[in-house]
Amino acid sequence: MLKGIILAGGTGSRLFPLTKVTNKHLLPVYDKPMIFYPLEALVKAGIEDIMIVTGGQAAGEFLRLLGNGNEFGLKHVNYAYQQGAGGIAEALGLCRFFAGDDPVCVILGDNIFQDSLFEHVSGFKSQPQGAKVLLKEVQRPERFGVAQMDGPRISRIWEKPEKPPSNLAVTGIYMYDKQVWDIIDTLRPSMRGELEISDVNNAYIERGQLSYSVLDGWWTDAGTIESLHRATCLVSRERGAEADLSLAGEAS
Ligand code: G1P
Repeated sequence: MLKGIILAGGTGSRLFPLTKVTNKHLLPVYDKPMIFYPLEALVKAGIEDIMIVTGGQAAGEFLRLLGNGNEFGLKHVNYAYQQGAGGIAEALGLCRFFAGDDPVCVILGDNIFQDSLFEHVSGFKSQPQGAKVLLKEVQRPERFGVAQMDGPRISRIWEKPEKPPSNLAVTGIYMYDKQVWDIIDTLRPSMRGELEISDVNNAYIERGQLSYSVLDGWWTDAGTIESLHRATCLVSRERGAEADLSLAGEAS
């Protein structure tokens, strides 16, 4: 059975001082805490056995906010704690015992997707083995992991390249079979001192086992001031809301 993992650790340094006293994933995106979006995305994709990896001083707040996940239709939520900021792949490594031999669908806690992920997850479930990533065409790919294409297949993923080989960003949702745990064991820290998820994906490419789909709807992360603002704008537009900036409201 496919299990879900939400990675919600890190220091949120790019959002400082918003993250001085709280975790990035608890900040608001329009009318909900950020973590609600990836959690709802997994539940809507039909995934009910979920682990959240968090860290830092505000880790306990996740329990207060989400509890056993009942309001999301879950029976329980599993939690893990990441010490320090060793990277996405390190945080994922903490879920090995939770996953056992089952495949996993991993989502970064600051990623928000317009469309349901159901169809993509179903596609992965019918894959005999390997991994799957979701790509999205973006205007500034150098901020992300970027797919280098060789005809219809991905030949390599470059993490934040100065000269992106395409406009296709690798979004923060990844589906892996159980090979992922042995792959994580082989990783070495990158230049930024982290175990990179792009290195995990490149290991699957080398095995000829990485599939992908390209997203139609909008996608954003919310890990910088600009992208957090963008996320709020996209979600509010989705809800048909418009800010009232007139002075009239102020008097009442
Ligand atoms: C991470 C990944 C990157 C991916 C991005 C999506 O970047 O390393 O490959 O494209 O998430 O949100 P980070 O936000 O940690 O810089």
